[in-house]
Amino acid sequence: MFQPDLLKGRSILITGGGTGLGRAMAMRLAELGANIFLVARREAPLEAVAAEIRSQGRHAAWATADVRDFEAVERAVERGWSEFGSLDSLVNNAAGNFLARTERLSPHAFAAVLGIVLQGSFHCTLALGRRWIDADHPGRVLNILTTYASSGSPYVVPSASAKAGVLAMTRSLAVEWARYRIRLNAIAPGPFPTEGAWSRLVPSAEAEQAWLAQHPMRRFGRHEELADLAAFLLSDHAEYINGECVTIDGGLSACGSGGFSHLVGAPAEFWEALERERRRS
Ligand code: COA
Repeated sequence: MFQPDLLKGRSILITGGGTGLGRAMAMRLAELGANIFLVARREAPLEAVAAEIRSQGRHAAWATADVRDFEAVERAVERGWSEFGSLDSLVNNAAGNFLARTERLSPHAFAAVLGIVLQGSFHCTLALGRRWIDADHPGRVLNILTTYASSGSPYVVPSASAKAGVLAMTRSLAVEWARYRIRLNAIAPGPFPTEGAWSRLVPSAEAEQAWLAQHPMRRFGRHEELADLAAFLLSDHAEYINGECVTIDGGLSACGSGGFSHLVGAPAEFWEALERERRRS
């Protein structure tokens, strides 16, 4: 399915592309032929990922920008557009998050996360969307969300609120901009270990083990699994997929919604006793 020229001739802007899942997507999309334009706050990781992509014979360039700053986003998009002649896809991956009791949060903490996730995604989408519409150029936007964008989650209320907003934006603009040949989709990942997420969201080895123990597949996601899904959704094979959010979590969120999921860990004796009881009655 993933032919080496799947994304040949395509130019993709990825925010937060210097580290974690952004980096994994950048590497994979480049491997499949795309030119990659990386945007993030810190120069060093961007430079390193771009060099790695170039060393594999692909094209990459970068610009630093804080996605909260619309002017900076405009400058970065301008640079990417002139670097590759145009940009045809955007991956809104940059995020901000931390674990905290909500009653202890300052308004500034809430605004920091909303600014990066919700406003940042809007800024990048607006900057590219306007260019695509003016140039009559097709576009694709892929928003990286989280499974709790639709369910909500305690202790990450700013992130849950912001990601829910991005989900609403995905569906709204999918309808509004379909006539301009711009499609928007989202991915809702479950836990995928990265240094950035783990340092903020997994406070201890015990917490990690407890999380794994409740996972139906008893494992976290692999970066290449998410990167391949992103490649598919950005590719022409997904041309008729628009306004969709694809969950990739190994069944973890489905597990939470089943009333009897807690029985997954029950020993065989539990089921045998149940069956004996049924035969007796
Ligand atoms: N718990 C509660 N509040 C926190 C916090 C935490 N763990 N971390 C930061 N804050 C608060 C700060 O105290 C500050 O509020 P205050 O001014 O009222 O004290 C506010 O959030 C902004 O923090 P600051 O560090 O000034 O903002 P920043 O713009 O430099 O950083 C963050 C933004 C907080 C989201 C930071 O974690 C970040 O840059 N994250 C990017 C990477 C990331 O989170 N990736 C997510 C992987 S899942």
